[in-house]
Amino acid sequence: MDKFNLYAKYYDLLYSDKDYQGEVEYINSLIKLNSNQNNYTILDLGCGTGIHANLFSNLNCQVDGVDMSPQMISRAKERYSGNVDLNFYVNSITDFKNNKHYDVVTSLFHVMSYQNTNSDVIKTFKTAYNHLKKDGLFVFDFWYGPGVLTDRPEPRIKILEDDFIKVKRQAKPKLHINENIVDVNYEIFINNKENNTSEIINEVHSMRYFFKKEIEFYLEYAGFNVEHFYEWMTFKEPNTKSWNVVVVAKKV
Ligand SMILES: C[S@@+](CC[C@H](N)C(=O)[O-])C[C@H]1O[C@@H](n2cnc3c(N)ncnc32)[C@H](O)[C@@H]1O
Repeated sequence: MDKFNLYAKYYDLLYSDKDYQGEVEYINSLIKLNSNQNNYTILDLGCGTGIHANLFSNLNCQVDGVDMSPQMISRAKERYSGNVDLNFYVNSITDFKNNKHYDVVTSLFHVMSYQNTNSDVIKTFKTAYNHLKKDGLFVFDFWYGPGVLTDRPEPRIKILEDDFIKVKRQAKPKLHINENIVDVNYEIFINNKENNTSEIINEVHSMRYFFKKEIEFYLEYAGFNVEHFYEWMTFKEPNTKSWNVVVVAKKV
């Protein structure tokens, strides 16, 4: 079972404080910098439980989402079963193929940093390229090397609860400096409030951080032009305080 299968159960609670609506508005404004279209088709790579996809459909977009985790996709399908503008597929984004062409391909919330071999990065960028129309846009974010190495990852604890469960998640990061990888070791303690039973889940998420020239190289190799390179949720050039960066690339 891959690490996201167990994670799916608690994912939406853990990120219930995440501003998905604000992120979709931000991505929409990045898209609008390069396109006059009012509505567009989207392929969302690593769509998770489909929250961005559903919010994009409120902007009249049709969205197909792909994720390798069957649990994430079944949660997405269950949550948004009434939304005819959404389709979800279980597949790795490194070899996904549905022979459709979209106006935009997105990949949001560090999905690219999970592609930590060079070969998986190249394959994922090819997936994006092969599913875009000419002049289509590829928008994704990733962990940014200068930020990660300046403000080194530290242990953190996150506690959240709803009416049914209480989750305490401890993150202990380990930096592998020559691999451009941070292994984030999670211990997730879940208490079921209804029957007062508990379980502990241990997971390691290996996150790759990237540098600008490296991303440019991979994108150009795959057939893209880099249009914008911003600190996440801003229109500013990234700097050593930026942990998360977003790129807008165009299929040429
Ligand atoms: C942090 S979650 C982000 C999910 C979603 N984009 C969001 O914003 O809520 C990372 C997601 O990437 C997916 N993922 C990572 N590598 C993948 C791959 N090679 N193929 C398909 N999905 C992948 C995981 O299953 C997980 O759902």
